Amino acid sequence: MSKINKVGVIGAGTMGSGIASHVANAGVPVVLLDIVPARASSRNQVTEIALEKLRKSNPPAFMNPTNAGLITIGNTEDDLELLNDVDWIAEAIVERLEIKQALYERLESVRKSGSYVSSNTSTIPLSLLTEKMSDDLKRHFCITHFFNPVRYMRLLELVGGPDTDAQVLEELGHFCDVDLGKGVVPCNDTPGFLGNRVGVYALQVGITTAAKLGLSVEEADSLMGRPMGIPKTGVFGLYDLIGLDLMLDVVKSLATILPAEDRFHQVAGGLGLINQMVSEGRTGNKGGAGFYKQVTEGDSVVRHAVELDSGAYRQAVRPGLRAAEAGETEGLRPLVESNDQYSQFAWEVLSKTLSYAAELVPQTSSTITPIDEAMKLGYGWLRGPFEMIDELGVDYFADRLSASGISVPEIVRIARGRSFYRATGGRVEALGIDGEYAPVTRAPGAARLSDTTAVSEPLLTNTAASYWDLGDGVGCVEFHSKANALSPTSMALVEQAVDHASANMKALLIYNDAPHFSVGFNLDFALDAAKRAAWQELDSALYDFQQSCLALKYAPIPVVAAPAGMALGGGYEVLVHCDALQAHGNSVLGLVETLVGLVPSGGGCKELLYRWTSDATDAASAVSGAIRAFELIGMGKTGSSPIDSERHRFFLPRDRMSMNRDRLLPEAKALALELSDGYTPPQAPTFLGLGARGRDGMNEFLQGLKTRGITTPHDHTVGAALMEVLCGGDAAENETVSELDVCTLERQSFISLAKTARTVARIEHILSTGRPLRN
Ligand code: NAI
Repeated sequence: MSKINKVGVIGAGTMGSGIASHVANAGVPVVLLDIVPARASSRNQVTEIALEKLRKSNPPAFMNPTNAGLITIGNTEDDLELLNDVDWIAEAIVERLEIKQALYERLESVRKSGSYVSSNTSTIPLSLLTEKMSDDLKRHFCITHFFNPVRYMRLLELVGGPDTDAQVLEELGHFCDVDLGKGVVPCNDTPGFLGNRVGVYALQVGITTAAKLGLSVEEADSLMGRPMGIPKTGVFGLYDLIGLDLMLDVVKSLATILPAEDRFHQVAGGLGLINQMVSEGRTGNKGGAGFYKQVTEGDSVVRHAVELDSGAYRQAVRPGLRAAEAGETEGLRPLVESNDQYSQFAWEVLSKTLSYAAELVPQTSSTITPIDEAMKLGYGWLRGPFEMIDELGVDYFADRLSASGISVPEIVRIARGRSFYRATGGRVEALGIDGEYAPVTRAPGAARLSDTTAVSEPLLTNTAASYWDLGDGVGCVEFHSKANALSPTSMALVEQAVDHASANMKALLIYNDAPHFSVGFNLDFALDAAKRAAWQELDSALYDFQQSCLALKYAPIPVVAAPAGMALGGGYEVLVHCDALQAHGNSVLGLVETLVGLVPSGGGCKELLYRWTSDATDAASAVSGAIRAFELIGMGKTGSSPIDSERHRFFLPRDRMSMNRDRLLPEAKALALELSDGYTPPQAPTFLGLGARGRDGMNEFLQGLKTRGITTPHDHTVGAALMEVLCGGDAAENETVSELDVCTLERQSFISLAKTARTVARIEHILSTGRPLRN
């Protein structure tokens, strides 16, 4: 039983409302307070508006809209007493020391004895926050630094002071880890802690180097994004996302508190253009314009980008840089080794950022791992700074730093001739400042697949997927193609893994560490087949996909899938054939094939139809269940969390949810082993032909959408093809239709649609723009 059963949050701005909604996501009641503004129409105006914004937020702050009911709103003038029974008060008010101190003084008398108080401050040292506190409050006080948006950003930096009781950090850390699902990184009380210290420096290096070398914003973003293992938003895109005005404040406050010799000051000036843009209201995404803006031209929306020298906009272009492509496909070395300004940019950014991070050891962080974790969990980097240096090669990095006139940090000198991380004796170890390696440890109950893959060989592998032995009789299929799009190669490995696990394991998992479980069937493959009119080849690939899914379903051992991020289309079809899901709280589930003019054809129509018709008591209720499946597939509906997916029956009562991404794999393994006791595979389902009654109902639904102006002409073609599958094709009303019959109908409808020019146009559009085409 957690000690934290009720939470108070003060400050209902970006962070406070994010913390409050996420605590509610954990099922814990929250009191949310803010000030009474001058001339307010209601005493609770600020929190009322905050709650309304949370309800409408996109991506949703709540995993379930009803979680809003766990938040009690109020104001700090009338309702401070509401805090007298909470176990933890999280302060998230303006970043002003005297205002925070005045609030803490008021909390002294209302807080429950033994309760914890924390600040979400980004920049104010804990030593200053606690200056005027009673000894008791000092013992119960720490910094809990969440990142925005709270539900989605994994990092939580936890900072204690010399007076903080160890138990406070332990219990708050445990609550934030297990209940809120955060990756808790303990940090020292130093400016910007770890994430922002390195992350903000990297951003400043990125924008100033781009301007110095004359790169366009798109060029800089295409290099300082995926090729470096950094989110594709890039550097200018991230500035737009955070807000140019907020970035000015963050940079200014870091510059105020960092010592004069810190290299941050060399880039703190940023770009003069940013001040001009902020003064004109061009604050980034929230201001409707920043380094990028969307411009409506006729029927389409076109992206424009700023010229860094003039500040004027022009249509954005896709740079298509060779260095960026080489970086993305071959790694960091080709990215920094060409003889042009693009490689020079990449090298300047990486050399400065990685060496800056390395200089933080040992004074700011005694070991390297927390810095790598902070950048991965807080900034979404695929690899931390030390993992990137390992990829470049420590000696290469050190030599080139010297050649570039950058002093080689002590920890890099110590690592010469070696690497920062090594796999040995079945575990991963990290190099310390003492020159010795020590094991990398995780919190009890946390694990990543990379812990296994770094120290063992796969039992089976190909270019798209691998199969691992997780120990305890559990095998694991890992997808690892680009965005985990599923191709015949991925599915061939699934089938081989099922064969192996059936003979040798107690249970099988489908899991990967990637941000997204799978974005679906590989559309490049479908497009290529369609363009060559290779219908037999396409049919056979779909047939194999279906057979692999059926192999998962009827294996003699239980199969558990553990998705995180997007599990869409073909990715969701894999899930729907497993015995149970252990899904991360931020998983997005659904069958979205119709958005590209196709129908699910890996058994997804069949399984969703079964979920909506198997409990039907008569023909009428079977038809209404099938219409519901028609609506969900036809409109490409998704659930934004496992709980949100329940209403679509994408997630069933037998399935479970994990809040912490690093606990997903161990929890899925435990579930699989639990199911393996006395396991028997499911019986094959049968379906009933729905005949004219089914088609009439579905047509009526489609007509309703048409009348409301929601559908396009091609939606009706797709809808008709989907109807064929869900109604059982030519089968008469109530005639039995087998599982394999529905599979055949899926493939027929898929191929009939792939033959249409409009479906081809939809696929091409989504592949080139990432957005669906409404034709
Ligand atoms: P915000 O400006 O969005 O919200 C601050 C809220 O505090 C406002 O609603 C304001 O009315 C309220 N407030 C001000 N004085 C108050 C008082 N005396 N009593 C009660 N409420 C009061 O600010 P934001 O961005 O949510 O930041 C809050 C804290 O979180 C700051 O310490 C900031 O440094 C930190 N932070 C911000 C991040 C971000 O991305 N915005 C990220 C991580 C930390």
